[in-house]
Amino acid sequence: MDTIDVADLDWNLLWQQEKNKKTWQEKKACDWDKKATSFAKRTSSSIYVDKFLGLLQPRQQWSILDAGCGPGTLTLPLSPMVRRVTGLDFSGKMLEILAQKAKKNRLKNITTCHGSWEDDWQGLQIPPHDVSIASRSLAVRDLQAALTKLSAHAREKVVITDRVKHGPFDPDAFAAIGRPLNTGPDYIYTVNLLYRMGYLPTVEYIHLEETLEYGSFSEALSGYSWMFRDLTENEGKLLKKYVGSIATTAENGAVSVHRRHVPIWAYISWTP
Ligand SMILES: C[S@@+](CC[C@H](N)C(=O)[O-])C[C@H]1O[C@@H](n2cnc3c(N)ncnc32)[C@H](O)[C@@H]1O
Repeated sequence: MDTIDVADLDWNLLWQQEKNKKTWQEKKACDWDKKATSFAKRTSSSIYVDKFLGLLQPRQQWSILDAGCGPGTLTLPLSPMVRRVTGLDFSGKMLEILAQKAKKNRLKNITTCHGSWEDDWQGLQIPPHDVSIASRSLAVRDLQAALTKLSAHAREKVVITDRVKHGPFDPDAFAAIGRPLNTGPDYIYTVNLLYRMGYLPTVEYIHLEETLEYGSFSEALSGYSWMFRDLTENEGKLLKKYVGSIATTAENGAVSVHRRHVPIWAYISWTP
C-alpha cells in the first residue's frame, strides 16, 4: 500500500478542490445586495453574536477590522466595547444598512470600507488593526491568500468563524425537497492550512439554537427559503410540508421550528 505523508498535503489545493464540488455557487456583490435586508433581519436576533463576543472578550483599547462585516452583525455591538471598528464588505447594500444602524444608535467610531477580499487593501488604505476578524465571511477563491491578508492586518489577534460540516444549511430540508447538498470544505481544512502556514490556531465551537422562533408560519418558511436558489413550485410545496412537520404553533400564532441538525460554527483564533 502506498503511504501518504501528511507533510505533502497541500491544504489550500485540497480546499479549492472540495470547493469546486459545492452545490451552492459563489455569490457576487449584487447577490449579497439583494439578500442584505433579509440577512440583517435573520441574524440580528441570533445567539451567535453573544457567543462570538463571549469568546472574543473585546478590550476597550482595541481597533478591530471586521472583514465581510455584512449589515454590522458584529461591527455594531463591538463599537461601544472597543476604540474603533472598520467594517469592510463588497456589498454596498450591506454597508448602507450598517451605516443607517450606526447613525440611529449614535455610534461614532465605525468606519466602513467598500471593498472585497480580492482588492489591494493597502490601496483601500486599510491600516493594520489590533485585531482582525472574519465572521462567516471567508467566501474566497484563495483561502491562503485571505488568511495571509487578515494576519498581515492584525497586530495582536486574528479570529475567523468557519462552517462545521453543513453549517447553517439544514440537510433534512434538502432531503425533503430532493436536492443534493454539498456545502464544500469546512473548518477542518482551514485549521490544517493555518498549521501549515506556521500558526497555532485555537478552535472553539459556537452551537446555534435548536429551536427557532418566528412570528408566523410564513416567516418561518422564509427563514428556510434562503437556503435554496430558484425553488420550483413543487419544491416550494415540499419545503412547506417539511417546515410544517418540524414546526409547532402557539395560541398567539407564534411558530417554533425544531431542527434536528443544529448549526455549529468553528471559532478559530491565532496570533498573527
Ligand atoms: C454570511 S455574511 C456574514 C456577515 C457577518 N460577518 C456575519 O457574521 O453576520 C457574508 C458577508 O461577506 C460578504 N462577502 C462575500 N464575499 C466577499 C468578498 N469577496 N469580498 C468582500 N466581502 C464579501 C458579503 O457581502 C456578506 O456581507
